[in-house]
Amino acid sequence: MKNISILGSTGSIGIQALDVVRLHPDRFSVSALAAGANVELLERQVREFSPSLVSCSTEKVARELKTRLAGHNRPLWIGHSDEGLRRCTVAEDIDLVVGGLPGSAGLVPAFAAVEAGKDLALATKEVLVMAGRLFMDTVRQEGIALLPVDSEQSAIFQCLEGHRKSHVKRIILTASGGPFRDMPAPEMAYVTPAEALKHPRWKMGPKVTLDSATLMNKGLEVVEARWLFDVPPERIEVVIHPQSICHSMVEFDDGSVLAQLGATDMRIPISYALAYPDRIDSGAEAVSFPLLGALTFHEPDMVKFPLLKAAYDALAAGGSAPIVLNAADEVAVDLFLGGKIPFDRIAAIVMNCLNAIPCAPAETLKEIVSFHEYVTERVRADWPEFAK
Ligand SMILES: NC(=O)c1ccc[n+]([C@@H]2O[C@H](COP(=O)([O-])OP(=O)(O)OC[C@H]3O[C@@H](n4cnc5c(N)ncnc54)[C@H](OP(=O)(O)O)[C@@H]3O)[C@@H](O)[C@H]2O)c1
Repeated sequence: MKNISILGSTGSIGIQALDVVRLHPDRFSVSALAAGANVELLERQVREFSPSLVSCSTEKVARELKTRLAGHNRPLWIGHSDEGLRRCTVAEDIDLVVGGLPGSAGLVPAFAAVEAGKDLALATKEVLVMAGRLFMDTVRQEGIALLPVDSEQSAIFQCLEGHRKSHVKRIILTASGGPFRDMPAPEMAYVTPAEALKHPRWKMGPKVTLDSATLMNKGLEVVEARWLFDVPPERIEVVIHPQSICHSMVEFDDGSVLAQLGATDMRIPISYALAYPDRIDSGAEAVSFPLLGALTFHEPDMVKFPLLKAAYDALAAGGSAPIVLNAADEVAVDLFLGGKIPFDRIAAIVMNCLNAIPCAPAETLKEIVSFHEYVTERVRADWPEFAK
């Protein structure tokens, strides 16, 4: 029996991780659940999966959960905020942590999991964007299993199984291209939040859906892949693959290209990470290739989607540039969703921040967190300037 903690249990990744757990009660038991403010769903999850630890984002939400669970007859510790998250990550009986928190919120808990010696099924790509080198050093030092959940990284991880990394020629990340793949560039200024939140292939949380519409998500994945697989950026390529059936590929020295294909269903990479190295029923439907007909691939348009190029540029600049990329994007996406800026200003803010904010030393976790906070505050204060 594997004891699992799910950070972000009420989100897209968390809900689908619990779907997989539900299919395999003989294999997995839920030790801890941590979520933000969706107390109604969290209550249902606690009643169904009986964790011994649960955490919410604030004391107020934790109090409401306690009231709702007054008659619950299993031992349960209910905490909140950073300490609640920490306990749900490091408790002794936890074998594997699912990192499904969004953005920078997932950084410190991911380090806590690794430092506590827990295996980590990581969805939060921002951890590797903000702290790639330090995080991978910590993973190696602690000797834990880091299992990628992002479908592209899981595909690459699977293609690399049984092969020598020294034989890898190229990593080829696939991207659906998002909802505005075929929209003429001038029309992108008029895109509404509702339109940007409608992904053509995947059903995900708001931040990652928005990032898919700007192709920033693919840029973040380029940085993620660079650190996860220790491959330099010039050997990581992106291709647009609108059907989202081929989840990424690896080319080897002899010219062979291995790809991982499957339904557009996050339960596949999640189940692989939860049961690794076994393969278990994920609940996903089989792909019908005759029904699909054609799988197509083409180059991304980095002029129309400049944030993909910005991610390569941030990697080339090195140091703390990826922290600026990530923090500026988090604020810009919030501004767009809050109706303060048009869609095409998201890229403007991120690129202007990369040009204007000098790199700072960010080698320890403390330095990384404080530089992220500095950039976030600066972009929040000066966004009208950065959006020009
Ligand atoms: N969704 C996907 O298919 C997918 C695919 C690949 C990678 N990823 C990555 O996985 C991560 C999560 O994405 P998602 O789509 O699952 O996000 P999401 O649907 O927005 O879910 C986020 C989860 O985190 C919780 N949360 C947010 N802030 C929190 C805080 N401060 N403390 C505790 N809990 C907090 C939310 O709680 P409440 O809702 O209760 O407030 C929710 O449970 C992202 O880094 C994303 O890039 C996602």
